[in-house]
Amino acid sequence: MRGARIMGTGRHLPPRVVTNEELTKLMDTTDEWIVQRTGIRERRYAEASVGNCHMGADAARKAIDKAGITPEDIDLVIFATLSPDMYFPGVGVLVQDLLGLRTVGALDVRNQCSGFIYALSVAETFVKGGFHDHVLVIGSEIHSKGLNFSTAGRDVSVIFGDGAGAAVVGPAEPGKGILSTHLHSEGKHAKELCAAEPGFLQNPWLTHEIIDQGRHYPKMNGKYVFAHAVRRFPEVIREALEKNGCAASDLSMVIPHQANERITQAVRDVMELPAEKVFSNIERYGNTTAASIPIALDECLEQGRIREGDLVCLVAFGAGFTWASALVRW
Ligand SMILES: CC(C)(COP(=O)(O)OP(=O)(O)OC[C@H]1O[C@@H](n2cnc3c(N)ncnc32)[C@H](O)[C@@H]1OP(=O)(O)O)[C@@H](O)C(=O)NCCC(=O)NCCS
Repeated sequence: MRGARIMGTGRHLPPRVVTNEELTKLMDTTDEWIVQRTGIRERRYAEASVGNCHMGADAARKAIDKAGITPEDIDLVIFATLSPDMYFPGVGVLVQDLLGLRTVGALDVRNQCSGFIYALSVAETFVKGGFHDHVLVIGSEIHSKGLNFSTAGRDVSVIFGDGAGAAVVGPAEPGKGILSTHLHSEGKHAKELCAAEPGFLQNPWLTHEIIDQGRHYPKMNGKYVFAHAVRRFPEVIREALEKNGCAASDLSMVIPHQANERITQAVRDVMELPAEKVFSNIERYGNTTAASIPIALDECLEQGRIREGDLVCLVAFGAGFTWASALVRW
């Protein structure tokens, strides 16, 4: 069976920078609290008229360009987001249109912070199986239009930011590129980090009360999420290493989902990895859920920190709970 590799990456960050200081004008919080607990100093917010389709398409154009192919060559779009532009259809079809792609398949993935790795895993399978040659994988998120910016929502709203990242997955020699992907879920924790309403567990799915009572805002049991994340990140990195007969010391770079700098530090400590081998940019973008790994990967490559032959691990944990890893021989 042939391999599958990441041929090119791209990112789009909205130009508007929102500092912690700006948030202190909206809610009872401080720059010191946010930096100490999360490592975040600023994040980006999209303009009102900008959707995930626009940010995702921009990131995708750059990824296609770097892959050295054209939009004509794309055989499938996989779009990961928890903040879709429309309730339906999915964002993938909007990108198919914006990029002027052939009438190829467009698939949306709903796996929150693990969304990009879930999407990458689908792309890997299609390419390794010989079904498609070039799969476009996009992770994009707009949180800023759906957060509670009052003090009641401060635990969640200071963490999340907007952005998009993309990758083109194409064929590789066996043993090169994406070596394996590992996906997990444990739905009994679904309510610990969620936006449960509006939703079709009730009839009608949307009411005035939901909005009046602010029940449509995301909710998070921060300490609970933290405790599970610091266990699952190392566990799923080790699973990927073991599957491929590798050790943590073989890793050249780990690109974790940018959940929270303290979670990243815990992963570094548990895995006994030096700081320069665990990529972090949360300080500038906050947590962009499905977009965080492709944005980080694109920056990491741009900084020349990944070379041919390097062993790279992408790893994520998030709402669901879901968690996942991908081990890549660059
Ligand atoms: C959210 C998180 C930063 C909160 O940190 P924490 O140390 O657990 O803080 P707590 O939730 O215990 O809150 C401590 C106090 O700070 C307050 N607080 C919460 N958010 C605040 C904010 N933005 N600014 C100031 N104070 C805040 C709380 O109300 C609480 O006050 P109290 O002691 O008077 O009740 C932390 O739990 C965390 O990082 N969790 C993981 C979140 C995450 O990564 N989510 C994404 C997963 S993909």
